[in-house]
Amino acid sequence: MSTYHIKSLEEYFQVYRKSVRHPEEFWAEIAEENFVWRKKWGRVLSYDFSKPEFKWFEGAKLNITENCIDRHLFSRGDKTAIIFEPNDPKEEAQHITYRDLSARVNSLANVLKAKGIVKGDRVCIYLPMIPDLAIACLACARIGAIHSVVFAGFSSTALATRIKDSSCKMVITSDGAYRGAKTLDLKSIVDAALESCPSVQSVLLVKRTYNEIAMKAGRDYLLSDLLEAVSSECPAEEMDAEDPLFILYTSGSTGMPKGMVHSTAGYMVYTAYTFKNAFQYREEDLYWCTADVGWITGHSYIVYGPLANGATTLMFEGVPSYPDFGRFWEIIEKHQVNQFYTAPTAIRALAKENLDFVNKYDLSSLKVLGSVGEPINEEAWHWYNSNVGKRKRPIIDSWWQTETGGIMICPIPYVTPTLPTYATLPMPGIQPALIDEEGREMRANQVEGRLCIKFPWPSMARTIWGNHQRYKETYFSAYDGMYFTGDGALRDEVGYYRITGRVDDVIIVSGHNLGTAPIEDAINEHPAVAESAIVGFPHDIKGNALYGYVCLKETGETRNQDNLRKEINQIITEHIGPIAKLDKIQFTEALPKTRSGKIMRRILRKIACKETENLGDISTLLNPECVEEIIKGAL
Ligand code: WT7
Repeated sequence: MSTYHIKSLEEYFQVYRKSVRHPEEFWAEIAEENFVWRKKWGRVLSYDFSKPEFKWFEGAKLNITENCIDRHLFSRGDKTAIIFEPNDPKEEAQHITYRDLSARVNSLANVLKAKGIVKGDRVCIYLPMIPDLAIACLACARIGAIHSVVFAGFSSTALATRIKDSSCKMVITSDGAYRGAKTLDLKSIVDAALESCPSVQSVLLVKRTYNEIAMKAGRDYLLSDLLEAVSSECPAEEMDAEDPLFILYTSGSTGMPKGMVHSTAGYMVYTAYTFKNAFQYREEDLYWCTADVGWITGHSYIVYGPLANGATTLMFEGVPSYPDFGRFWEIIEKHQVNQFYTAPTAIRALAKENLDFVNKYDLSSLKVLGSVGEPINEEAWHWYNSNVGKRKRPIIDSWWQTETGGIMICPIPYVTPTLPTYATLPMPGIQPALIDEEGREMRANQVEGRLCIKFPWPSMARTIWGNHQRYKETYFSAYDGMYFTGDGALRDEVGYYRITGRVDDVIIVSGHNLGTAPIEDAINEHPAVAESAIVGFPHDIKGNALYGYVCLKETGETRNQDNLRKEINQIITEHIGPIAKLDKIQFTEALPKTRSGKIMRRILRKIACKETENLGDISTLLNPECVEEIIKGAL
């Protein structure tokens, strides 16, 4: 029985059983046989849910880049590590071999060192989907710096918040970014952000769009200049298993974004293992994940997981609609993609277009179709299955989170029979539990509960940067001895899990995780706004869209409501980014509140979803009379 690569359902059950009965032995075997270590661990796992504290492979020494690059040089030096497919299909694709990757990572690592970056320093990476993005992550890891990638669609305010929270010493960015027909000016966004970020000492610039940019003397450097002066060899820093590898911010239901901190060894072992199995990746396969490296999906399944397996990973700079809606399928044919991993929102958008866009291309190279980011609805699943997979290729609906580091619940293709809307079975080592309102573990089937994980796994986030208390409160305080995911789920008779959606104030819009509080905070900054509440409502393409209820300071406000709506979305764009814009904005005199003053979002959600027949008991509200008015004014 191979523990690392599962090839049959029988084997899956055997491996799963072992992973639950003897988790330490199970993970030690995988870690031992599939990675290179400078020094082996003393203990496989020690943990305490009450602190909470989790340590995997404690005492081990390693560098993740030796696992993702160096060890492949002998056998796979000429193999392509990264294929870069540019935004413009007329621009030639790049093939970066493992040998090239090694030289580029080491050179950049030397530049970082020359600019004073040392082990433990935080480096913010704000780059478009070009190879430099992956290379920058790996260069940080090479010298033990902690990278904090910020998605290049975030606004300067959002970028500044993240840079300040982890006091980054450096920013790596580019002059601009191509996204479909648009060119974005990233440098000026960085300049605006840095006005309030005193911790940043240097900015490294990659040239991509060659637009005119302002350079601040003594702070900004063209990367190409600095690279000329350094060697392409850089010894890897020896890291402890538990040293942080990166910080990645994710929205919470309240307050500041949370800087999730991921470890080195546990993260490496788990992402590599799940990559191999969830995609049934085999040597010579060509793998493509359409996510951006700005999200966890890109960290784990564009960069670290694939490279740790010596895979070829494709990075696509553009968007699915440019130059037309056939772009994804064209790329699959062109590069003979074997595993394709995308998001339901992309599938729904493409399913709306003419089928000729798909049928024009030969998709027969595909072996596995992946989905991630939100529940994939039945209609989208069937479209994906019939038109992309031609009913022959398994769809893996993979459930996981920024916090979990890697895929948690997901069919293993050609092993686990798939079922639309079910993420199916837990990966080995993952012990899910469904918890009822009273905090008890539920045994019954087909009843919705709160999804928790009751045993540690190697790639779990270890803390929230600078706020361990919040980590404890958010994830480990709802139920003792368990990690609480924030999602609801149910289980069917055979043990398959179906994720039903968030049970907190986080809304998944086009696969992006948006907390309601930061959006409300942004809206409330508008001088005319007294208070606001955001809820989600179903949307054909985005899955959910945002509905805002806004109370103005002066009732009977005479200003043009459409202008106000524009201004509100403008403020949101400035504070967070265009992804958080509201689809509907309803002005109302009051928001329904409990007697303790808490906004009753449950009621607002029902109104936004047009489910007003059954609002439940509203008599206990502080101001039940406002509900009628809100229903009348609903959009
Ligand atoms: C939330 C995490 C995991 C990488 C991308 C999102 C939702 C994610 C699924 C799925 C149903 C899903 C959950 C989760 N989600 N994948 N296959 N089925 N829901 O990472 O931004 O941290 O968001 O996305 O609600 O909690 P994230």
